[in-house]
Amino acid sequence: MVKVAIFASGTGSNFEFIADNQALKDAGLEIEVLVCDRPKAAVIKKAQRRGIPTFIIQPKDFENRSHYEQVIVNELAKYQIDTILLAGYMRVITSTLLSEYPMEIINIHPALLPRFPGIHGIEDAYKAGVSVTGVTIHYIDEGVDTGPIIAQQSIPILPDETLEQLESKIHDVEHQLYPKVILNLLNNKKGD
Ligand code: GRF
Repeated sequence: MVKVAIFASGTGSNFEFIADNQALKDAGLEIEVLVCDRPKAAVIKKAQRRGIPTFIIQPKDFENRSHYEQVIVNELAKYQIDTILLAGYMRVITSTLLSEYPMEIINIHPALLPRFPGIHGIEDAYKAGVSVTGVTIHYIDEGVDTGPIIAQQSIPILPDETLEQLESKIHDVEHQLYPKVILNLLNNKKGD
């Protein structure tokens, strides 16, 4: 059994695809808690509907980021969390969380890192006029989208494609790739 916390700030489509993936459940993945920094985010209802506890916490209620993350660390300890999965969590992770979970925080990014890091990965690739972009799953380190890459999938940008069409294609790939990569990691852990 691997106990995970998912961190998300928005819609939560990746959250859903992970939570509803039967192969992940069969492999022993247990989503113990959703950590969300936006009280109105749609992902909260998605967790509640599935009976997954939610921990809603906003940085503005703390004097600094370290204190904010320390409260999250304390909460995760209650669930004995092994691994953190970021799924559209729109904040940089700092050393307070990283030192508790070294190489145990995983992120999905909607571009082929190291190209187009940051919060507008899809749009930045589109505007740059590149013919190929993609999706990256990587470990978190102290930088912004700089940690070691676990898996990538490329996606062509067609000449007459709109940004909305590209976004939808990228999300479709994300929804397949993230659960698949998590499953591989789980199976590798079992072999350890
Ligand atoms: C995804 O595109 C992910 O790559 C990025 O944020 C988006 C989250 O979407 N980090 P959702 O909330 O999972 O629908």
